[in-house]
Amino acid sequence: MSTPSHVPVLLDRVVALLAPALDREGAVFLDATLGLGGHTEAVLRRCEPARAIGVDRDPEALARARERLAPFGDRFTGVHAVYDEIPEVLHDQGLDGVDAVLFDLGVSSMQLDVTERGFAYREDAPLDMRMDGTAGTTAADVLNTYPEAELARVLREYGEEKFARRIAGAIVRERAREPFTTSARLVELLYAEIPAPARRTGGHPAKRTFQALRMEVNDELAVLRRALPAAIGALRTGGRVVVESYHSLEDRLVKQTFAAATRSEVPPDMPVVPAGMEPALRLVTRGAEQATPAEIEENPRAASVRLRAVERVRGVAS
Ligand SMILES: C[S@@+](CC[C@H](N)C(=O)[O-])C[C@H]1O[C@@H](n2cnc3c(N)ncnc32)[C@H](O)[C@@H]1O
Repeated sequence: MSTPSHVPVLLDRVVALLAPALDREGAVFLDATLGLGGHTEAVLRRCEPARAIGVDRDPEALARARERLAPFGDRFTGVHAVYDEIPEVLHDQGLDGVDAVLFDLGVSSMQLDVTERGFAYREDAPLDMRMDGTAGTTAADVLNTYPEAELARVLREYGEEKFARRIAGAIVRERAREPFTTSARLVELLYAEIPAPARRTGGHPAKRTFQALRMEVNDELAVLRRALPAAIGALRTGGRVVVESYHSLEDRLVKQTFAAATRSEVPPDMPVVPAGMEPALRLVTRGAEQATPAEIEENPRAASVRLRAVERVRGVAS
């Protein structure tokens, strides 16, 4: 794996999509995945009248972003929260709606860089993988306590791992000898269980299992499923939601949520949509946008990105 890049993915495109919603006095931008604050910094530079609220469940990311964004003074507010708490975050800030929301999903380069967080498989580290290291189940807990069938499901669904059942069986056998604590033993097991021909073509044998454990530990899909409607519901007229996904299940969820929100309730055989019955949102992107080969070359994380955006065209935030 190449060194994780700190360059925000599709930065210019994301700012271009958010800017039309933020170019007015008092506009509010909610960055649901603040990370190191790269996207937020660019938005605050580009959209002078706007202020930003940055949410991250990782206290370490939040601390770093606060430092980076300090020059913007009270135009930036950092909040420690999980992004399905958007309604509570806005309520606490005394806001009844926002003009733009960004989700740049997954882990940050900083989280991958810090070995002890346990996200990377290249070095032996505690099997943690919690984005908020102060609460919840760790990757070791999942490996040591989940029933075999449940482990196999996690690896198959979230990791798209072809050898999920075989790996789950091996994990259950191994943990009976001694519980898992650090990553090296798991990586060794994966090398042993994934047949050599698959190892030659399928990327690093630990990649899919580590991704699956991370998604399970942080309950990523369930949180996203709750957060997208909350973000859409919080949008003021003219407001936009932009999402960058890196996993097919995430992108499918975004696609389906946006499709439902932009569909008219009027029967398809009706010649014209009566006034007032148009959908409240419209798609801003056509299909999912991807990074160019040049950007992927510069920033390998961009290789799997899928970008989608919607805009509220009528109705106000509830
Ligand atoms: C890919 S990084 C964002 C990088 C950021 N756009 C930048 O420019 O620096 C994703 C961030 O979202 C945070 N995150 C992931 N899931 C979250 C959730 N459910 N709630 C809040 N923050 C979350 C992670 O902790 C991580 O810092």
